[in-house]
Parts: sequence; structure tokens; C-alpha cells
Amino acid sequence: MRTVIKNLRKIYTSEGFHPLRSNLLDTIKIYSDCDIEILNGYITRIEPAIEAADSDDVVDAEGGIALPGFIDAHTHPIYAGTREREFTERMRGKKYEKILAEGGGINYNIARTRAAGDDELRTVFLSNALRFARNGITAFEAKTGYDLGDGELRLLKILNDLKRTLRQDIRITFLGGHVLPKGENKKEFIDSVKTRIINVAGSGLADYFDVWAEHIAFTNEEAEAMIKTASEAGLKVRIHANELSDFLAVLLLREYDIASIDHFDFFNDEQVELIVSKGTNVTLLPLTQFSLGTENYPDARRLIDADVTLSLSCDFNPGTSYSANIQFLAQLALLKCGMRVNEILNALTINPACSLEMQDLCGTLEIGKQGDAVIMDLPNLESMFYSIAGNDVLYTVKKGNVIYRRDHDHQKLLKA
Ligand code: NIG
Ligand code: FE
Repeated sequence: MRTVIKNLRKIYTSEGFHPLRSNLLDTIKIYSDCDIEILNGYITRIEPAIEAADSDDVVDAEGGIALPGFIDAHTHPIYAGTREREFTERMRGKKYEKILAEGGGINYNIARTRAAGDDELRTVFLSNALRFARNGITAFEAKTGYDLGDGELRLLKILNDLKRTLRQDIRITFLGGHVLPKGENKKEFIDSVKTRIINVAGSGLADYFDVWAEHIAFTNEEAEAMIKTASEAGLKVRIHANELSDFLAVLLLREYDIASIDHFDFFNDEQVELIVSKGTNVTLLPLTQFSLGTENYPDARRLIDADVTLSLSCDFNPGTSYSANIQFLAQLALLKCGMRVNEILNALTINPACSLEMQDLCGTLEIGKQGDAVIMDLPNLESMFYSIAGNDVLYTVKKGNVIYRRDHDHQKLLKA
């Protein structure tokens, strides 16, 4: 199959197979007036005036821009039940922590997810994958974490089945250590998580294990017990930490290899120093702070200046961030976290590709990588930041296939 993307004003991309940090995070290559040829899923040419005759598909970018498909390295897309009532209660002052302790919050989804049939869970996942495609996301990480009993294995099996048919690339994370379900005994729960970790590692159903280290979830010692089991069983680890306070114990970072530390809204110098010395990726999730209404945005500038490798992600989930609007995420990173335009693009593409070990396939637009691109109806990259809370995605292209196309027929506005 041959696809040619034509009529592009600009292409913005990094190149290579390594995460970017420090000054390099602020560098981007720009092509002007070039087309992209994708043969059997992989980019074969980026040059002016590629002939479109005898191609199977011609994507007319209408003078817009192409970026590498966005890669979201932190999502919670499989669950049952939504929490709009809780959201409005929180905006009236009720605390997230209190709602969780009273049996709401994540517990609300646990009850519904356990009761849901496979078809319902599949439908929720696919509608979220479509939401991601509409926002230009061509690869993402998918976490479980809303069953938190033996049904976690069911969620992992459903994700593995979907992975075989979904065009978007996914990585699967067993979020077995999300929170303690209401009414359960903590010690017994942690023991059951450890058993499940060993099963999951043995069955190959997940790429990563995840745990939330925070005072309302698991202490550093409790998180460590689970991380130790995962590491010994050969399951790589990503963690949720420092969303509500700089809770993460440096000892934990020192002792274990952690693929990504996510949230990190609060941090201290000792943590930053250790992260830099280990080269650990940090994934910032400012949409979560926006949605919580607390707006404790992470100081990305300080992290970049300290040489931390940064990625940005939506943290799409039914509780703290019911949004996959990458464009708004990018705007928050610019307006609230002190990041720059090129840094943000790299933190949405090559860096998360590396953090998910997908850098050989995607994360940049260059010959030999997959033809994963987002075409935006914008004259330049800066405009993506200017159009507040918009979504200017015109096409999302995955391995040369258009997986989303915006309907933008102006004629519908006009009376016949
Ligand atoms: O990433 N921090 C923990 N987990 C999710 C929230 C999950 C929820 O409230 O449903 C997060 O913010
Ligand atoms: Fe999360």
C-alpha cells in the first residue's frame, strides 16, 4: 500500500532514536513544502513534489502542517462508569481525598467495572481510542487499575485482544497498585497484588507494572514491596507519584529501575538529582491539575534546566482528567509549566516513544519509521498554541492509513 501526503506547508519533527533533554529538547527540524511517501506502513521519502499517481491513497493536507503522531504514555482507558457528579461536587469544594475515603472516586469505577461485561469494557476502550485518534494520538500506553481484584487479569486479556486488532500501537500496564479498594485489608490486598504480579509477569499480559505512591494510596514501603516483586519477576515499572505532595522516597528511586515517574507536580532537589543521575523519564500530566482545579502545575522549566528527560501526557481517566485534548495539554505546558514550543512537541512525540520503548517505530517523521502523522489545519506550529482549547487535527494517519478525518465541510453552514 502506498500513501502520499501532499500539500503540506511545513513538517516539524525531531530525528533519531534517543530521548531529548536539556538544550536539545528545544530543537526541531522543519521541512517546507515537502510531501511524505509511506510504503506498506513505513516512510520512504520526505521531499518536494512526490508523484501521487498510482498511490492507493492521497491525503490532501490543504496547506496545513504535519507533526509526528502524538504518543500518550499515560492513559487509563478501560473502566465502567463516569464521575461527572463527583467532578461538580469537587468544584463546589469537596476534596478528592474525602470522596475516595467515603467509597466514591476510584471505588465508584471499581464497583461498576467488576459488574460490567466484556463487551461494555471493550466499547468504552474503543470509544476512548477513537477520542485519542481525534486528538492526533497514534500510539498510547493503556493502564488497568479499575478492577483491582482478580478481574485485573480480565482487563489485561481484553486489552491484549484489542491490541491485536487496533491500528494504534499500544503498550499495556498492569496498574495493580492503584488504591486500596474500600473495605479491604491493606496487608491482604498487597499480598494479592504480589501474587497477581507474578501471574501477569509469567503470562506476558503486560509490559509494565504501576503503583500509586501517595498518602491516600500506598506508602513508599508498601509501593516498594510491590515494585520489588515486579522487578524480581521481570516486569518493568512505571509509577504514579508526587501528584499531591513530594511524597516519593528517594530510596525507592535509588534501589529500583523505574521506566517512568508520572505526575511529579511536587518535587525536591534530592529527587531531581537522583532522577538525572539515573536518566529516568518523568511524565508530566498538567491536564490533571487543571481538572482537579488545584492547579499545582509542575515547574517543567526547573526540571528541564536540571537536565531531566520530560514527556507530557493527558492522564486520560474517568476521575481526575476526562480529556485527551493534546492541544490544550500543550497550551497548559506553555502557559503554566514554563515549557517552550519545540520542547512541548518533543515531549509529546520522541520522548514518550522512548519511554514506551517504541522509538524504532515512531516518535519522529523520518525515513524508515512508521508513517504515523498528525495533519493539523494550521499554518505553523505556533498556531497550535494560539488557538486555545481547540482541536485543529485534520487527519490522523497511522502506518499510512487515515484513522481519523475531520468533517470540515463549510457548505453545511450555508442555506441551500
Ligand atoms: O492518574 N493518581 C492516580 N490515578 C489517577 C486518578 C484515577 C481516578 O481518580 O480515577 C490519576 O490521576
Ligand atoms: Fe494516571
